[in-house]
Amino acid sequence: MTLRSYLVSSLMLSLVSVSAMASSVEVLHWWTAGGEAKAADVFRSYWQALGNEWQDSAISGGGGQSAMTVLKSRALSGTPPEAAHLKGSELQEWAGLGFLRNLDEAARLGNWDNVLPEFVQHSVQYKGHYVAVPIGIHRVNWLWVNPKVLKRYHLSPPESWPQLLTIAKRLKQEGITPLAIGDDQWQLSILFEAIVLGEGGSDFYRRAFIRLDQTALQSETMEHQLELFHQLRDYIADDYGDTKWNQATHMLIEGSAAMQLMGDWVKGELTAASVVPGKDILCLPAPGTAGKFSYNLDSFAMFNVQSPSKQQAQLQLVNMIMTSDFQHAFNRVKGSIPVLRNQTLTDFDQCAQNSAQQLQLAIDQQQLVPSMAEGMANSSNVKQAIGDVLVSYFNDPKGNAKQAAHQLARAILSAQR
Ligand code: GAL
Repeated sequence: MTLRSYLVSSLMLSLVSVSAMASSVEVLHWWTAGGEAKAADVFRSYWQALGNEWQDSAISGGGGQSAMTVLKSRALSGTPPEAAHLKGSELQEWAGLGFLRNLDEAARLGNWDNVLPEFVQHSVQYKGHYVAVPIGIHRVNWLWVNPKVLKRYHLSPPESWPQLLTIAKRLKQEGITPLAIGDDQWQLSILFEAIVLGEGGSDFYRRAFIRLDQTALQSETMEHQLELFHQLRDYIADDYGDTKWNQATHMLIEGSAAMQLMGDWVKGELTAASVVPGKDILCLPAPGTAGKFSYNLDSFAMFNVQSPSKQQAQLQLVNMIMTSDFQHAFNRVKGSIPVLRNQTLTDFDQCAQNSAQQLQLAIDQQQLVPSMAEGMANSSNVKQAIGDVLVSYFNDPKGNAKQAAHQLARAILSAQR
């Protein structure tokens, strides 16, 4: 269905609903990079097309750390926005504090228990109650590759981490930055979790990042993965400290870098730059992770508000997000895939179709894992503790894997207290 036909049917619905008055909502999010901002535009225009007002609270900073800081001060001063991008453990923590609106009634009317895959249902529930509406599923374990650069040096894309190191060595000799990455803690966490998943497998990943098993965290397997992670220091740009994730994607597009390890929000950036994902830039499973799927589920929570018209607006927003039309239009631009079951994705790019197939395969074969780096696997304290250890270890030229494994285990233990 096109935007126009969506508007007609939505308009009819809103005429029947409680009031035909324009609703206004304030939406807090951090989708400000080129491709993300385009997806936020789709979100806003669908809402405005229903005759409503959109108050944009876009807080820049990929990964959302600044947005979360702003949200905390807004909530503490008693002026939270009506809707905010909240996901994973942050979502659970806000719900535990009693700030979020219970969406069970909307879920019952919208049949969410049937239209959403189980892992999506669980991610947006707190103690069995819906507290957010899911908007898109991102796969995190992707390796983005500029095929022209590899071809120029007769190299094939890596299928294992040792292979990636071999290719990286060669590319560096040729003056190419092998791996594009920025300096945020979450970017390093994404890189590390991909190594753990690729080298250790899903069971080890779960032991380390979900069960936080002290034995796994201090094992030789973990030391080996930390060692690999550290070796990648030699293959990133010297000035990586000044790079944002989307700037790293542009290094890849321009060919000054050959690869980037990042979730498929990269695709938003590619499409916005008229680069075809899956052709101009390849989307491959992170080394060793074919058939595995590390998910990052984006969702929006509605804050408790007193005004009946604001409450009505929140419900209208939630229902709009759950329509198949909106899911298609939004996710095609964002780089994610719709949260609804049984969607035909023929109008999506090849990488999205691949993501949907891999997701189903991973569900069937118990290879679906929540992304640690994206806060899907454990509390925000634990995520922060892991990130802190990774950043200081990675940036220390003399970093020692054995010590880092001990630090990781200790930091996680104290974050759990
Ligand atoms: C993630 C978010 C994604 C993406 C990314 C970079 O946390 O879930 O939607 O935009 O940050 O900002």
